[in-house]
Amino acid sequence: MAKNKLHKYERVQHLPNVTFSVLGESGLPSTYPWYDKCYNGMEKILELGCGKGEYSLALATANPSKLCVGIDFKSHRICVGAEKAIAKGLENVLFFCVRIERIKEFFEEHSIHEIWLTFPDPHPKNRTIKSRLSASSFLDAYAHLLIPGGIVHLKTDSELFYNFTLESVQQWGGRVVSKSDNIHGTDCNRYGTLDVISTFENTALSKGLTIKYLAFTLN
Ligand SMILES: C[S@@+](CC[C@H](N)C(=O)[O-])C[C@H]1O[C@@H](n2cnc3c(N)ncnc32)[C@H](O)[C@@H]1O
Repeated sequence: MAKNKLHKYERVQHLPNVTFSVLGESGLPSTYPWYDKCYNGMEKILELGCGKGEYSLALATANPSKLCVGIDFKSHRICVGAEKAIAKGLENVLFFCVRIERIKEFFEEHSIHEIWLTFPDPHPKNRTIKSRLSASSFLDAYAHLLIPGGIVHLKTDSELFYNFTLESVQQWGGRVVSKSDNIHGTDCNRYGTLDVISTFENTALSKGLTIKYLAFTLN
């Protein structure tokens, strides 16, 4: 393994803004840092599959009165965002290293205001459809976590994932509140979709791919 990656695995263990889940050992959601007294009354935003946390950092910077939690199972990626947050003195962003399949264990029911799915893996093969972050089991979890009327935002360069999500939300009984199949081709910057352009998004744009956006509610 590359030395740089190894160093990140080591460093991330000691960062005060990163939490790790231990399999089979989740405590009550209220015992996790995002429910600490210092965050009382702050709206909570989750970024699922945050990678290096570019979105989480930008959302936290733009919304100082809200708490952002970036979630990913790859700790060397989380390390990058968490170290940047510390260097910038950003105190309203936390990172959590866990599989998204388990998030219901760590957050209280109806306590999350927004969920961002930023360029999730499209899982194009039929045999991994259930791993798509907008498959019905994930929508069940999001509905459990979101406050009434809370919004799930999706940005993706994958037409397959975009169309799958539209169908999955409709079948689940959710409501699409905004959609665009090319956010850079219109003047629309609804919900600030153009405010943050991550490295991943820039790479997709440089390949000539269009960026799609969906916002939906589940309750
Ligand atoms: C394509 S990257 C996008 C990263 C980032 N959101 C961005 O826009 O730059 C997808 C990320 O989702 C994470 N991921 C995929 N499936 C996951 C899962 N089941 N649980 C936690 N993280 C997951 C991967 O580790 C990866 O960092």
